[in-house]
Amino acid sequence: MNIIVTGGAGFIGGNFCHYMTEKYPDDVVLCIDKLTYAGNMETLAPIMDRKNFKFFKTDIADREAVYKIFEDEKPDMVVNFAAESHVDRSINEPEIFLQTNVIGTSVLLDACRKYGIKRYHQVSTDEVYGDLPLDRPDLFFTEETPIHTSSPYSASKASADLLVQAYSRTYGLPCTISRCSNNYGPYHFPEKLIPLVISNVLNDKPVPVYGTGENVRDWLYVKDHCIAIDLIIRKGTAGEIYNIGGHNEKTNMEVVKTVIKALGKSEDLITHVSDRLGHDRRYAIDPSKIHNELGWLPETPFNEGIKKTIQWYLDNREWWENIIKGDYQNYYEKMYGNRKTIS
Ligand code: NAD
Ligand code: DAU
Repeated sequence: MNIIVTGGAGFIGGNFCHYMTEKYPDDVVLCIDKLTYAGNMETLAPIMDRKNFKFFKTDIADREAVYKIFEDEKPDMVVNFAAESHVDRSINEPEIFLQTNVIGTSVLLDACRKYGIKRYHQVSTDEVYGDLPLDRPDLFFTEETPIHTSSPYSASKASADLLVQAYSRTYGLPCTISRCSNNYGPYHFPEKLIPLVISNVLNDKPVPVYGTGENVRDWLYVKDHCIAIDLIIRKGTAGEIYNIGGHNEKTNMEVVKTVIKALGKSEDLITHVSDRLGHDRRYAIDPSKIHNELGWLPETPFNEGIKKTIQWYLDNREWWENIIKGDYQNYYEKMYGNRKTIS
């Protein structure tokens, strides 16, 4: 099988390319990535020489270039990870989120219609459901929870999901959608909470916690997400949506303190800063459908996954130091430089 994986130079797409090329030596992974600030060829370096891996530096919104790849490579499946993925950036600059996440998705769907495909899979997010209150631990997102977005990022991802559903119903395109909770693990870009905390703590820099730090996220080790997507594209039913999550809810403060403790540093590094606009309070996935229908369960518990992740950042300092010494410094200054600290 020829499988297009878009966004493969990013965090989850990169882990997925590693996983698939290793697990299926007879399939070919065709990675399409524009190499934005979040794309990193170092993430793909360990698999670049594999015979079952090919890389195309291409924007998914570039219709001509995408059609050419379909024409030349005749893919059987597409797994679309490519996206602008950071909520904070979407609050400052929404436009690129619409261009990549919505228009890019529409180009891929058109290519699938034009050239034919066995399966188009959209990697979506639990953020399309909005948030849950902190005082109702009995509530979870199911696949039937209405879409109710908060940020330009989640609005763009929800729009893409609606397009996928429209192409599925109107044109009969065989599509699936997965909506996953927060991932963590190797190759996670340092702008996101867990790698930001690890890299700041290792550099004895303050750790910025938005607001009170009571917001809750449902953390899943990235390999478990990859295993779930692989199951969905092979055994999932076209037209269906699958939620992915491991019932692993933590407040941001719990996560931050866990990392600081594991690295043997002081909690004095924690600095509460002004809150993210529109900050979602709690995400919590009900993964019963993927468990009951496809037998998926997460394999890596948080205490194990976070240790592995921290060890990876200790063993791969060059990977993240190369990022944070570059353009990232401007981003960091813009995002945190003038941010109000709160007590
Ligand atoms: P990331 O930001 O680490 O990587 C995104 C990748 O997409 C980068 O390699 C980037 O170069 C590429 N890209 C961006 N615009 C592109 C374009 N126009 N054409 C081609 N490539 C482009 O993101 P991530 O955290 O790995 O997330 C991957 C996907 O998973 C996204 O669709 C995201 O919405 C979804 N998701 C992420 C999480 C999470 O916790 N990170 C959870 C659920 C779902
Ligand atoms: O739920 C899935 C989503 O998870 C994905 O769709 C997104 O692509 C991914 O970025 C992630 O979104 P979040 O906004 O939840 O992740 P982030 O790592 O940016 O933030 C996690 C929590 O930590 C959130 O409540 C905001 C808070 N935070 C984040 C940063 C970067 C801080 O308190 N301080 C920070 O410096």
